[in-house]
Amino acid sequence: MRCVPRHLVSIADLDAAEIVRILDHGDRYMALAGQPIKKLTSLRGRTVINLFFEASTRTRTSFELAAKRLSAEAINIAASSSSTSKGETLLDTADNLEAMYPDAIVVRHSFGGAAAMLAKEVECAVINAGDGQHEHPTQALLDAATIRRTKAPGGSLEGLEIAIVGDIAHSRVARSNILCLSKLGARIRLCAPWSLIPRGIELIGGDVTRERVRIASRLEDGLEGADVVMMLRIQHERFEGEAPRFPNTRELSRTFGLSERTLGFAKPDAIVMHPGPINRGVEIAPQVADGPRAVILQQVSWGVAIRMAVLERAILGLDAPVAEAAA
Ligand code: NCD
Repeated sequence: MRCVPRHLVSIADLDAAEIVRILDHGDRYMALAGQPIKKLTSLRGRTVINLFFEASTRTRTSFELAAKRLSAEAINIAASSSSTSKGETLLDTADNLEAMYPDAIVVRHSFGGAAAMLAKEVECAVINAGDGQHEHPTQALLDAATIRRTKAPGGSLEGLEIAIVGDIAHSRVARSNILCLSKLGARIRLCAPWSLIPRGIELIGGDVTRERVRIASRLEDGLEGADVVMMLRIQHERFEGEAPRFPNTRELSRTFGLSERTLGFAKPDAIVMHPGPINRGVEIAPQVADGPRAVILQQVSWGVAIRMAVLERAILGLDAPVAEAAA
């Protein structure tokens, strides 16, 4: 075997201690973001391939920056320019990329299970950058890092009340966050119309989530006493072929949208999160998205730091000695 792959396919593969280690490493890299020289040498000579079959701004850019800040070579492949558009299968594409000896492949695909499939096929590390409506583990880790920094100065998320609001049914961000935040001890309210909450979702993490996740079908109930409000976009691209789940977007926005008024249901110091892209005036009012309680752009900054930690874990392991700053 050429490398020691530590895939990251699902948050379910990590225990709380491992999550905390990744967050601690992320803290180190976040501190680096404020330095004039942001680059370390730990992945010098290594190669990371970003293989994206779905649209992405934040995730793709931050994986590329993360690789470069650790001195790895980063190559980006977008679906429209890859041979899958000429009929090549995902596994054939992966085998061909593997033949070029990358150390890690970061993959985003509309098929839930794509990352797991690749992880079985190739020898290098595979990192899931979002697979269908299944999981988006690095988003959950960067969200946990953002919450830890702003809401949990002591470091523990134990007892924090986190509301996840919106299109839970189609959201890989929601699934990964439910698993991650509950493992870290937070309590979660899933808030949406019943039609957007999959039956049994509170059981996806077994006893841990059964005890910590509850469903709220009114925004007021979901937000009451919340420390964190995480809004989700309606994932219109995943509705194809489904019966309508709500009468129209305007109605959903009126009943489950976050405005300055509805934010008032949460704790006075609650923070507002969103994985992006935001749809202004739909799930979140511009005044809230741009307001003092929003940490949406901080999430983006954490994205780079956490993905540095995840790439380092995947390729070297987290016990690797602290790297030198690059000259
Ligand atoms: C999310 C995704 O792609 O799942 N975005 C992201 O990675 N920042 C959420 C979304 O697209 O709504």
